Amino acid sequence: MKIAILYGSKYGTTESCARKIASEIRGEVELINLLEKKPQRLIGYDAVLMGGAVYAGKMADDVIHGIKNLNFGDTPYGLFICCKDEKEKAEGYLRLNLGDGIVDNAMVIEHLGHGINLERMNFFTRTAMKTMFKIKGSYTEFNSAAIHRVADGVNRMEIVHEQ
Ligand SMILES: Cc1cc2nc3c(=O)[nH]c(=O)nc-3n(C[C@H](O)[C@H](O)[C@H](O)COP(=O)(O)O)c2cc1C
Repeated sequence: MKIAILYGSKYGTTESCARKIASEIRGEVELINLLEKKPQRLIGYDAVLMGGAVYAGKMADDVIHGIKNLNFGDTPYGLFICCKDEKEKAEGYLRLNLGDGIVDNAMVIEHLGHGINLERMNFFTRTAMKTMFKIKGSYTEFNSAAIHRVADGVNRMEIVHEQ
């Protein structure tokens, strides 16, 4: 199995989630940071996982365009998202940012939790987090069950493949 995980992460939480998924997948995994690299086509992968985080109601432009402009042919794909809001709203963010077509055809959609990493923010964002949202310190809330479900979904494909 060869899997690509495409992600965008400004402050590190989504990247940690992508790495956790990668560590649970049996097979070869390529991690692609959409903030650094924008593949146009993906060839030779058995599945693609794609995700990002929400900032002021929006996913990063590099992530939106990276996913929307990607030609992954018939390769099955899954979506994941990191945000503070609850699961239902998280899927709404995916629909708003990526469109219904991409969301409706995903084999798996998961909300993986969120994190606030004050140390990686610039002065203005850090101050806004502390004053507007009363955040006192950095923290991460991974949804380990959801992370496991994404990896499990991919690992199950391997079993179907082998039959
Ligand atoms: C400036 C800023 C704005 C955010 N806006 C939202 C938001 O509108 N809705 C939400 O659910 N989460 C929001 N969040 C929470 C992020 O989605 C969450 O911190 C996420 O884990 C960040 O991922 P990253 O560490 O990979 O950048 C915001 C976080 C920051 C720093």
